[in-house]
Amino acid sequence: MRMVDLIEKKRDGKSLTKEEIDYIVTAYTDGSIPDYQMSALLMAIYYVDMTDEEITNLTLAMANSGEVIDLSSIEGIKVDKHSTGGVGDTTTLILAPLVASVGVPVAKMSGRGLGYTGGTLDKLEAIPGFKIEIPEEEFIRLVNESKMAVIGQSGDLAPADKKLYALRDVTATVSSIPLIASSIMSKKIAAGADAIVLDVTTGDGAFMKNIDDAKRLAKTMVRIGKLANRQTMAVISDMSQPLGEAIGNSLEVVEAIETLQGKGPEDLTEMCYVLGSQMVVLAKKADSIEEAREMLSEALHSGKALSKFRELVVNQGGDASVIDEPDKILTARYEVELPAKSSGVVTKLVANELGIAAMMLGAGRKTKEEDIDHAVGIKLHKKVGDTVAEGESLLTIYSNTEAIDEVIALIEAHIEIGDTGEEPPLIHDMITE
Ligand code: URA
Ligand code: CA
Repeated sequence: MRMVDLIEKKRDGKSLTKEEIDYIVTAYTDGSIPDYQMSALLMAIYYVDMTDEEITNLTLAMANSGEVIDLSSIEGIKVDKHSTGGVGDTTTLILAPLVASVGVPVAKMSGRGLGYTGGTLDKLEAIPGFKIEIPEEEFIRLVNESKMAVIGQSGDLAPADKKLYALRDVTATVSSIPLIASSIMSKKIAAGADAIVLDVTTGDGAFMKNIDDAKRLAKTMVRIGKLANRQTMAVISDMSQPLGEAIGNSLEVVEAIETLQGKGPEDLTEMCYVLGSQMVVLAKKADSIEEAREMLSEALHSGKALSKFRELVVNQGGDASVIDEPDKILTARYEVELPAKSSGVVTKLVANELGIAAMMLGAGRKTKEEDIDHAVGIKLHKKVGDTVAEGESLLTIYSNTEAIDEVIALIEAHIEIGDTGEEPPLIHDMITE
């Protein structure tokens, strides 16, 4: 096979066969296809698109390009959840113990985050002592005994995706639906998921800025999940403003603990019920969404879900006293309130810039090499649709430096107070077929 012929075929609008896609992924991963040819193919895919069959073959080829985690020694249906990204997205920290507490096995493989705040791993490391580098056998034993464990993502998971993503990033081919869909699904499949619940976010804090694109991405991923024999469903959720109230690693751990105590923000709690009940049904632990939701509500209000979180922290070496005294990890040197300049209703709280502000404080990283400051971030006291009086605090900035003028200016430019405003819907749609 010659790569130039395959580029020409795609360029001319034709479909690539499974053998051709397997060849491309294998030869690009081992370095025998150069970046310039792969770049040309990516741009052809960007313009021509791919059929569901092509996307499925690409997904499976990328999943098989490195280590494929074998979770078959864990009893039950392993359901994974994936969010396409957002600001202050604390759901994984809550969902994992919540669904595990009703018997869904959670074998969570998680990565470090790039961008606004850390990934789930970074957040868990805000708990002193918490270890994410555990041997795979230990990980599997913990899931069998305790229904949940979290492990750092293997360096060899879907290496083809790692290489392709880096190339897409510099060739203006990231925002291609077949390429995003195969990238996400290949990592879920390589991490051993039997079934997948997707949270496809939309709004200016998300990858997909509008609902139509989010739906197209969700439908594509649900279809390739089916073709790859992984039951998949997607929720289209709003990310025009941050989810919950906390943005920042320690702040989000505290928010997760409060939510597991039944005292969390309403939108975040609801999001966990929506995603969690889908996971419970896919894991066949309940026959209907209503039944699943009742089980989760019982687990949250009885303290069962919080106990499961405590068990996770203890099992992985963390200091469980943080659960009883969460303020212990809120160690930022400065806490600065941001007062409202006028009275009215909050009409805008732009997720993207609030995320950037948290990153500027040190809550996220711009490059892989940077360190994260777990203690810093932003805690919102008002969300879109809330009334506010002049001088009342809109949010608290947690910082380790006094030099936050730029951060304040950025935040102020992206919060609006008007006469009328409504809370945006949390869920825009659900995609099951
Ligand atoms: N997230 C991914 O993992 N891959 C993409 O291509 C986009 C978002
Ligand atoms: Ca949050």
